[in-house]
Amino acid sequence: MPTTLTRTRRLTGFKPTGRLHLGNLLGAIRPLVAAQDTADSVAMIADLHAMTVEHDPARVRDLTLEQATVLLAAGVDPDRTALIVQSQIPEHTALHYLLECATGHGEAARMIQFRERSAGGRPVRLSLLTYPVLMAADILVHDTEQVPVGDDQSQHLELARAVASRFNSRYGETFVVPEGVRPETAARIMDLADPATKMGKSSGPGAGRIGLLDPPEVVRRTVARAVTDTVGRVRHDPRNQPGVSNLLAILAACGGRAPDETASYGTLKREVTDAVEAVLAPIRARHAELAADPGHVRSVLADGRDRVRAAAGDTVRRARRAIGLLE
Ligand code: TRP
Repeated sequence: MPTTLTRTRRLTGFKPTGRLHLGNLLGAIRPLVAAQDTADSVAMIADLHAMTVEHDPARVRDLTLEQATVLLAAGVDPDRTALIVQSQIPEHTALHYLLECATGHGEAARMIQFRERSAGGRPVRLSLLTYPVLMAADILVHDTEQVPVGDDQSQHLELARAVASRFNSRYGETFVVPEGVRPETAARIMDLADPATKMGKSSGPGAGRIGLLDPPEVVRRTVARAVTDTVGRVRHDPRNQPGVSNLLAILAACGGRAPDETASYGTLKREVTDAVEAVLAPIRARHAELAADPGHVRSVLADGRDRVRAAAGDTVRRARRAIGLLE
């Protein structure tokens, strides 16, 4: 077993299937940055997971570098957080195979995300089925204790826990069994054009998504077009006024103060635009500096890889030995 650790080991994953947005910032990036004093975090760009569905190779590569750059611009400190790219650490895939030998086909096929994506006999990649096993490998290989997960990933985390416990009881104590930690519900940011669904990386352009690198006029337009209602009161009432409530949640999370209940929706939207712009402007500026020197970002990623590889290699060796491979 790994030696006693004083700081909590956390792993946060970002899948490079789209550009990072305000929901990612408030729900995942900010908590990661805030925890840098108390947790030993690994921030991972899950490029292998981006290939479980139809993908454009050049786009995955570009998004991988862009996401890493945005994370740095948003305050991820590479001296305290190991910033890594999943595919650059072969221990992820080495452990993946061993974990496949401790996972049932039915267990993987039951995953909601797999069932939804393969519904109606749609052709899917085999890697979509084994997606959660690779995710378990990501988590277990770094002896992760805590994994921040939203609703969409909680079933995958449960699978990782089940596989870790099963492996430990069949082959001897090998893995730390990770816990899921929930981001605060207040940080659940909905799509501005469709406040019933979560803001997503692949919401179409011009829809209700605020990209972290969107220029000010695009942010302003997206907020101006946000769906509201005909109630006419600025109130937090997610059931009856989901659009207005979402704008209020964004405003609060971005450090703005809610206008009076009697204010117009136009006033609310102006406040939201200003608060969001105040949060995004420094990220955009820092991103522009970093993006001018992609060699630097690549070297940060190489450092991250070098920092985690030795321990990841130890975990793989423990697992190989336990499961019956010749050393
Ligand atoms: N599946 C995660 C997502 O879609 C990304 C991910 C891959 C991840 N490996 C992980 C998240 C390990 C946490 C831990 O968001």
